[in-house]
Amino acid sequence: MDRIEDFALPLSTGAVRRLVATQPRVPLATLPTPLQEAKHLSRLLGGPRIFLKRDDMTGMAFGGNKSRNLEFRMVEPLRAKAEVLIMALELTSNSARQTVAAANRLGMRTVLVLKGEPPPEPQGNLLVNELLGAEIHYVPDREAQKRVIDEVVDRVRREGRRPMVLTSEPIFDIGSALAYLESTVEMLEQMDALGAYPDFVYMTSGGKGQAGLVLAKRLLEAPFLVHGVTVSYEYDVPPRTAQIANDTLALLGLDVRIDPAEVISFGDHVGPGYGHVTEASLDAMALMARTEGVVLDPIYTGKTFAALLDHINEGIVPRDATVVFVHTGGTPAIFSHAETIRRHAATYHLPPPRNGTK
Ligand SMILES: Cc1ncc(COP(=O)(O)O)c(C=O)c1O
Repeated sequence: MDRIEDFALPLSTGAVRRLVATQPRVPLATLPTPLQEAKHLSRLLGGPRIFLKRDDMTGMAFGGNKSRNLEFRMVEPLRAKAEVLIMALELTSNSARQTVAAANRLGMRTVLVLKGEPPPEPQGNLLVNELLGAEIHYVPDREAQKRVIDEVVDRVRREGRRPMVLTSEPIFDIGSALAYLESTVEMLEQMDALGAYPDFVYMTSGGKGQAGLVLAKRLLEAPFLVHGVTVSYEYDVPPRTAQIANDTLALLGLDVRIDPAEVISFGDHVGPGYGHVTEASLDAMALMARTEGVVLDPIYTGKTFAALLDHINEGIVPRDATVVFVHTGGTPAIFSHAETIRRHAATYHLPPPRNGTK
């Protein structure tokens, strides 16, 4: 095994892979995910060159970024021989769906304690959770979530089964950072094989996965800029990202520190709040779907792509740049917003090509 002192900066992509490989993991995701160039989209926009890192194709009940993270996160439940995983999450959480799928693959049951009122006909992630066989409790607030979690833990124990509560354990954050450290290296190797290199990497971020991108940039001493786009007002993303990156560096035994000032986060595409569909997100989804045949979601990736489009128009991203857009999944949400998306699609028209190109 490599010694820590073998890891002097800048690291090669191979050395980053070896670092990540020092951590225990369970193979679950379909890797590597494809990287595809969005040529029609770029042509219509008159630049930049855009590549899509298809982390919506990681597998496990429609895929997404959490399938990568679960490879690290499911180590402890397996080690502890947990039989029932119990999680408190947001109503339409993508993480919940992917975790239930992972638990099924590993022979564990799941109980979801979701915050919010389910619609009369559950759709999207809620429908998939039911199909996957999770036991689901809907509760109004965080207090009720805590209470129900305790009740379920007691009940599972009385039934003679081993429960484990997965909610905000450190590996949830660190596993995401490790996952996206690796995903970035994977992407750079794929770009290299195509003779390309990114100037910007765009990804939807609540801070966890972005910590991995920021770590990759620092450890490789890479010039690309990481532009995280947040879709919620819940977190102050730069300090959270830096904290998660530093916790991950400590775990890896590296004497490197990330400062919050290094973390670039855009928060102006949230709209009225987390989970609210915006017109810009719907336009961005339609543009991506109609040029590249790729489905984004209205809550996460649609908003991030809308941010990228604005940044191109504002000159933050020059037309001659190369951009990688990381598609983090979340696509089942389109079925929860079917009417809104249908109404928008019925009147949407692609913008005319810039520079008159076709
Ligand atoms: C589709 C999608 N993209 C991005 C994110 C944000 O990822 P992270 O929590 O790693 O910042 C989430 C998180 O819930 C998500 O579901």
